Amino acid sequence: MRIVMLGAPGSGKGTQAQRLQQDHQLPQVSTGDLLRRAVADKTPLGLKAKATMDAGELVSDEIVLGMIKERLAKPDAKRGFILDGFPRNLAQADSLNAVLAELGQKIDTAVLMDVDFEILMKRLTGRRTCSKTGQVLNIYFSAPAELEACKKAGGELVQRDDDNETTIRNRLQVYERQTAPLIDYYQKRSLLKTVEATGDVNDVYARFKKAVGLK
Ligand code: AP5
Repeated sequence: MRIVMLGAPGSGKGTQAQRLQQDHQLPQVSTGDLLRRAVADKTPLGLKAKATMDAGELVSDEIVLGMIKERLAKPDAKRGFILDGFPRNLAQADSLNAVLAELGQKIDTAVLMDVDFEILMKRLTGRRTCSKTGQVLNIYFSAPAELEACKKAGGELVQRDDDNETTIRNRLQVYERQTAPLIDYYQKRSLLKTVEATGDVNDVYARFKKAVGLK
């Protein structure tokens, strides 16, 4: 099963992809995570990408495509994957089709995580990642027990550098300008499924699984 996740920053792509990965052993391939790792490791690619990410702009197609090609060629991606944060513009979507054609594969479903725009700012400013487990949490929306569990496991709740109001505003604009046209792109190819992504995380997960044809 090969899934593309679409949706504005904060719409819950990562949260839902993480759950599907755990339950169905489908690797979550997040270009944002791959880039953040490169930044943390101070690789040449990471050093190049950091300022762009901090500004909330898109990193060059060339860099991102190179990462994706390498990742999708790994053995665990043979039986499927969940693309989280890629493609991000029309050129990337065309490149993805070309990469998959070379591998004899194609996308099964593009899932749009549909969220009321007003709640995105709160979700993003409240987001924290557990340094121990990598779980994505939220100081406003996660259950206190979940937040506590991270600390008990010896982790810390870490905030992303680009989750500040100024950068978030730009990321939302970049999404509208460059990524939202992909909704039409996948709709025209009869691959688009829209998931109502506001409300309880478990309810959203149930709708997400249904959209990709899983129980
Ligand atoms: P990336 O890491 O892809 O960030 P994004 O698209 O901005 O998406 P987010 O990770 O912010 O949101 P999400 O939808 O995954 O939401 P989440 O599940 O975490 O990209 C970062 C940067 O990298 C880009 O700006 C760009 O510079 C670069 N980049 C990445 N890919 C690129 C590409 N292909 N090309 C070029 N550049 C690229 O949820 C958010 C919060 O809400 C969490 O706290 C979560 O706990 C909470 N939440 C989730 N669901 C619910 C719910 N139902 N109810 C309440 N709270 C919820």
